[in-house]
Amino acid sequence: MSQTGSNKDVSQESLPSEQATAHDGAVTTADNPFADPGLPPHQHRVQDIDERAAKRSERTIALLFVVSMLATIGFIASYVIFPIDKIVYVFPFGHVSALNFALGLTLGVALFCIGAGAVHWARTLMSDVEVADDRHPIAAEPEVKAKVLADFRQGAAESGFGRRKLIRNTMFGAMAMVPLSGVVLLRDLGPLPEDKLRHTLWGKGKLLVNQNTNEPLRPEDIPVGSLTFAKPDGLADDDHDFQKEIAKAALMIVRIEPEDIKDKRELDWSHEGIVAYSRICTHVGCPVTLYEQSTHHVLCPCHQSTFDLSDGARVIFGPAGHPLPQLRIGVNEDGYLEALGDFAEPVGPSFWERG
Ligand code: FES
Repeated sequence: MSQTGSNKDVSQESLPSEQATAHDGAVTTADNPFADPGLPPHQHRVQDIDERAAKRSERTIALLFVVSMLATIGFIASYVIFPIDKIVYVFPFGHVSALNFALGLTLGVALFCIGAGAVHWARTLMSDVEVADDRHPIAAEPEVKAKVLADFRQGAAESGFGRRKLIRNTMFGAMAMVPLSGVVLLRDLGPLPEDKLRHTLWGKGKLLVNQNTNEPLRPEDIPVGSLTFAKPDGLADDDHDFQKEIAKAALMIVRIEPEDIKDKRELDWSHEGIVAYSRICTHVGCPVTLYEQSTHHVLCPCHQSTFDLSDGARVIFGPAGHPLPQLRIGVNEDGYLEALGDFAEPVGPSFWERG
């Protein structure tokens, strides 16, 4: 590709003579280690001298752009054709969402072909004559330098900067101390959360309480197909820490026919098909609210992350990076649903990355 932006093009005719100087050894690094080696001779590409090769390149480039257009059409078609819950096996990725895979593949091909076409065009058909741009001295003229220096000295003398040492030194002290205010403000970033984000109010024996009625839940309160929101027993809506605690402990409970539960751990951690999952989306923490009975999918309304509650709350669509954490539950001797411990992993967004 032509390197433009120069003021001085090196003409085709001048190149051989400059090159000859370099190659003839008239000025060599032995004579002058800083000798200008000049530009290498311009090598014609096959496309520069063979019109048929140029045509071939032109067709290749056009083909890449056409493939990009087709891939874009494929992207739109995939969006329409594939249902969001269709899972396919793709080597070597394993089981993936057909929709996500098709969208990613077609968009990738579309962008790649545009890039490849542009690069191929630049490398084979656009001008590749090198040009040189001499660097000009950037130092000011001696008169300008002298004038600036004189002005500075005059200003310093008139300000009394050198004479009034008390003012000067206290000014330096004041300027040195000002940044300390910023250092103190860093304290507002704390206190450090330590491991508070890793734990919620859930623990062994904590009853699951209906968040709307404030009544402890029994298995018979959870019919198949319903979605119930729950909180830990003892957390009242008017508690000082309610918002802080419910932001970590919010729970959703659904009942699924046990034979429909695909994930073995999920089944072990459920009670007669009743499963309890964190409501806090693992993308950026919105509450997951929408439940589709027939598919057992829950949807986060913020960015449409979709989780399959019959398969360990696996992410089947959207930007969330992790399944929703499951709470292990059972029934106490009075017949109420209770937690059998805290969540096994931190709830909410990206806590895995926080270590
Ligand atoms: S917060 Fe749930 S998808 Fe973004």
